[in-house]
Amino acid sequence: MPTENRSARLQRIKILAQVLTALSLLILLVSAYIRLRGAGLGCGPWPDCYGQILTGTAQLHNGEARILHRGVASLTLVLGFALVWQCRRPQTIQPPAPYATALLVLMIVLTFVGLWSSDPHRAWAGFINILGGAGLVLLSWRTALAAGSAQGAASPRHLVGLLHAGLGLLALTIMLGALIGVRYAATACPSLPDCGGVLWPATSGLSALNPFTTIAVAVPMGDDGGVALHLLHRYCALVTLLLLGLGGLQALAQPATRQSAGLLLTLLLTQMALGVLTVLSGFSLRLAVAHSVCASALLAVGMQVLVRAKASA
Ligand code: HEM
Repeated sequence: MPTENRSARLQRIKILAQVLTALSLLILLVSAYIRLRGAGLGCGPWPDCYGQILTGTAQLHNGEARILHRGVASLTLVLGFALVWQCRRPQTIQPPAPYATALLVLMIVLTFVGLWSSDPHRAWAGFINILGGAGLVLLSWRTALAAGSAQGAASPRHLVGLLHAGLGLLALTIMLGALIGVRYAATACPSLPDCGGVLWPATSGLSALNPFTTIAVAVPMGDDGGVALHLLHRYCALVTLLLLGLGGLQALAQPATRQSAGLLLTLLLTQMALGVLTVLSGFSLRLAVAHSVCASALLAVGMQVLVRAKASA
């Protein structure tokens, strides 16, 4: 393929993928708002109103948010097809093609999961939705990076290892946070740093780690399962802060990763602060939505630092 054609195509793919990243973040924001408001965050009288949607007694007016969610999700799907078309026709262009294809497959899977996710009792559908939403941001941003011209530079191997470990822990923290949300377990632990004097999860609470379940009522304060989720989420977040924070600080010293590492550290601290403030505020809806969206942005930027650091490690 002539070089000029190739760079024009890559430029179009990059712009499309960047637009898709922005739209994915918007979808995430709107669906977190619908889900968390539905759960009862920010409702009154708190906490009695929490989880009333499960018993069918909550009066919710999420009409506009649902229309916005459907509109943006449909537009994203159309642009997802356009992106794959750009990457595959007239001939496949590397490196962005596989990421764009994976993104489209994920969009189609989430469209089907969406058929079940309006029922708040199905924890697994909400769980897949939260992780899938993060996956949309991650893959669209990965496609944009693959289509871009930014180069990596030699980075020490231990930095790459540190970033891998930090991102793995970050993914685990996101899964645990998602479980608190979809299991309606926010009220299980409204204090910090302990949960009503408990500092370590009881073995009996570990069954709450299973997302493939249906939920009938919100988790009461001090419930073993809910407490286990909160404590594990916090501990994983602390280890993530340590590993990703160290990785980010080391990446600051490398010219190729300096800019993204600065953003990574800012998002990491913001995410921790939002988590703590969500609890201290008595589960403010706005803070919880911001906490949900920031998690995916953090994942995408963490992956960017890793991609740049790995380029010639
Ligand atoms: C790296 C740090 C962290 C990440 C990536 C993270 C990620 C997440 C995610 C993805 C959710 C699910 C939100 C949703 O339902 O849409 C969540 C929920 C939550 N997180 Fe975190 N979190 C972090 C740190 C913290 C910290 C330090 C605290 C508090 C000490 C905290 C408290 C909470 C609470 C209370 C919820 C439940 C809110 C709800 O959905 O009902 N998080 N977190």
